Amino acid sequence: MDLSRNLHVLPPTNALRTRLAVLRSTFTTSSAFREAALQIGRMLAERALEEHPAVVLGVSTPVENTFELAFPERSAALVPILRAGNALVEPFCELLPNPSVWHVGMSRDHETKRPRVYSNAIPKEVPPTKTCYVLDPMLATGGSAEEAVRLLAEGGASKVVFVGIVGAPEGVRRLHGTYPDVPVYLAALDRCLNDDAYILPGLGDFGDRYYNSL
Ligand code: PRP
Ligand code: URA
Repeated sequence: MDLSRNLHVLPPTNALRTRLAVLRSTFTTSSAFREAALQIGRMLAERALEEHPAVVLGVSTPVENTFELAFPERSAALVPILRAGNALVEPFCELLPNPSVWHVGMSRDHETKRPRVYSNAIPKEVPPTKTCYVLDPMLATGGSAEEAVRLLAEGGASKVVFVGIVGAPEGVRRLHGTYPDVPVYLAALDRCLNDDAYILPGLGDFGDRYYNSL
């Protein structure tokens, strides 16, 4: 499978790589980890929303009239995969007017590595006008992302996008194997998974580091 199809990895700018260094380092405190996640989340939201529908907006400046763009009200649904996905909600809320937020709770079984859904706030009928952003910082085996997209497809979602911070090639292949039309936005594409399905070099367990629950 061509890994580059429908995969968008942020350019490795100095700003991004210095923030990734903070996330990856085992010596980073939980507070600094949260701050770096927020900063990278803002870079991801800015990039992913380049493809979000926008309308031309007339604007009166103090000196003349001009045109800019606006995102339509309620045109997006954010679907954070709990817990870690919560870290990406705020950066999208900063840019989108009144998005819906539909939390999906999942945890990976340590033995099978399969996700177990423990809560699901996706409506039974997803309005076709909404672009749905599945948010999860880690795309490891791709099982959690695949399950979230499946739940959205079940509700009839017409447009689904995945946004993560660090991905493994295995996860991208799996998600695109099942849902080739779901664009994937990542801050970094790492090397591979280890035997415990952790991303290498990765950053460890995102949820535990973000919530200081190690
Ligand atoms: C982690 C991570 C992703 C998932 C990715 O969740 O936050 O949701 O694993 O792995 P996958 O691509 O192999 O499915 P975890 O089960 O650790 O839950 P947490 O977010 O509550 O810590
Ligand atoms: N979930 C994480 O938090 N980290 C990984 O490396 C893989 C899954």
